[in-house]
Amino acid sequence: MSEIKKALEKARKEKKTLSKEALEHAGGIKNLPEDIIASNKVFLPAYSQTKSVQVDLKKLINRKVFSILKKDEVADQYKFLMTRILNKTRPDGHNTIEITSFKEGEGKSLTCVNLAITLARESRQTVLLVDMDLRRPSIHSILGIGSTPGLKDYFLNATPVKEMLIHPGIERLTVLPAGGRMDNSTEIMDSHRMEALIHEIKTRYKDRYIIFDAPALNVCSDPLILASHVDTIALVARSGYTTTEDITSGMALLKDKNILGIILNDSGISRGWTY
Ligand SMILES: Nc1ncnc2c1ncn2[C@@H]1O[C@H](COP(=O)(O)OP(=O)(O)O)[C@@H](O)[C@H]1O
Ligand SMILES: [Mg+2]
Repeated sequence: MSEIKKALEKARKEKKTLSKEALEHAGGIKNLPEDIIASNKVFLPAYSQTKSVQVDLKKLINRKVFSILKKDEVADQYKFLMTRILNKTRPDGHNTIEITSFKEGEGKSLTCVNLAITLARESRQTVLLVDMDLRRPSIHSILGIGSTPGLKDYFLNATPVKEMLIHPGIERLTVLPAGGRMDNSTEIMDSHRMEALIHEIKTRYKDRYIIFDAPALNVCSDPLILASHVDTIALVARSGYTTTEDITSGMALLKDKNILGIILNDSGISRGWTY
């Protein structure tokens, strides 16, 4: 471990706040907003065997990942969503959640990233965010973690799970990226190897919340196959975009599944929990 990493690890353990210069030097972060510098202790990377990629906080904000902000109206809505989800899942010991939606562009991936960050930071819960939208993966680009090995490498090259995991520099959050597009995603989703993968990540840390970013229900059967491997499913609907017909046909597909609720995204008034 380098001297810088040792210093960061020591500071992290002692919950110390580092200077802007020290953070920039250690993580290559540029132009941090002042309020983030003031609260930087939550962003210190935890060095372990898992690869760390320090996310650029300013770029995250540009991509609407407002959950990283301490004081923000949108961040507050994600906290509200997190509380609803914890209240509904904890009593049953449910901790694997698929996020899907009725059609593309409703905000699944953005919701997954914001929810995962909020859970990791606010509930002090360890969280794994898995990019299971193998046709249109986007978690890596929202977080700006670049092209790193992911599920594609697991399926094509038998890369071990531990070599694909990424710490994006947010305490308690780990990401399992898709590693590239896979057009034959349904075949893969339905395979024994996928079953083994899900079993492995579920059993690795039993008390960890796992958020799966899945494709939309009207695109392929991947979200339905994944549904049988998770404890519960949350759907995203987008205000002014998702129609009643979309919801009716989507919910019919999931009629036997354990549905947590529908997250109303982009409502402009209050993002809420409507189901
Ligand atoms: N509440 C929102 N406000 C503004 N833009 C949003 C909102 N939710 C999603 N978007 C934008 O809409 C686009 C689609 O969102 P994304 O999360 O990729 O959808 P999906 O994963 O469901 O296809 C992205 O450019 C995203 O930044
Ligand atoms: Mg998406």
